[in-house]
Amino acid sequence: MQEQIDNVVEILVKAKNAVALTGAGISTESGIPDFRSPGGLWSKVDPGEFSIDRFLQNPGRFWRLNLSLKQSGEFDLASAEPNLAHFALAKLERLDILKCLITQNVDNLHQRAGSVEVVEFHGNFLRAVCMKCKTLEPINEVEERLMSGQEDTPRCLKCGGILKPDAIFFGEAIPARALMISQIQSQKCDTLLVIGTSLQVFPAAQIPIAVKVKTPPATVIEINREPSALHKQVSDILLVGTASEIMAELIEKLEKRVGVTSALN
Ligand code: APR
Repeated sequence: MQEQIDNVVEILVKAKNAVALTGAGISTESGIPDFRSPGGLWSKVDPGEFSIDRFLQNPGRFWRLNLSLKQSGEFDLASAEPNLAHFALAKLERLDILKCLITQNVDNLHQRAGSVEVVEFHGNFLRAVCMKCKTLEPINEVEERLMSGQEDTPRCLKCGGILKPDAIFFGEAIPARALMISQIQSQKCDTLLVIGTSLQVFPAAQIPIAVKVKTPPATVIEINREPSALHKQVSDILLVGTASEIMAELIEKLEKRVGVTSALN
């Protein structure tokens, strides 16, 4: 592993357009379960509950399910804190090595760790959006109205439309802007870090494929607790382990290599 990390440091030092693609695995050490590992969210909740069709059949039912997942701690994004892997990626951006971070996660932890160039491929679960007028509202304020019994189905304060978490449900399109930026960044990318994702959900999983089939192909570095579904097809380097440990060691070695010393906080 040490030799692999040293190799990745050299690749990142030379990179002109490094991009990162992250998944739920980067946030498990922050206390947010991933989806498909043993004990992951989909082993406890039917993924169909997060489909747009089922949401529209009974929005109030979804909001109550979401509240119970939050209150039970099963899926409590608001209480999570960024971990060393999130901070390491923010530092990689400040070193002007990482140009863009595309995340499938909806937990806002990359932004809270200081990453700026973040593409929210699946939206953001800390906001609610009105399905009629598109007004945004912090999701905790919506949940407070739900908990106080003020309303059974959260409604937009502006127009009375139905409110939905501003995350992409199954059956919904990826936000056009996120898709466009991801495609542009994939074409420019010469190095792609793939961290904490099983690469089982498209079109996000198309990103490492796209960077491999272009000319010249990018170098893909996968950091995962277990090999992703596409590692044989796309990963040039596979670092198996926990994201926070690997990323903390990687950034420490990188800072020494480029002559920057500061605590990783
Ligand atoms: N460090 C590194 N990898 C980890 C860690 C960790 N601490 N914890 C889990 N992993 C790995 C798992 O081994 C798995 O390969 O992260 C991956 C998580 O895969 P999934 O649970 O499938 O999550 P993800 O790939 O992000 O799912 C993509 O599916 O359900 C939808 O919209 C949802 O964005 C999500 C999408």
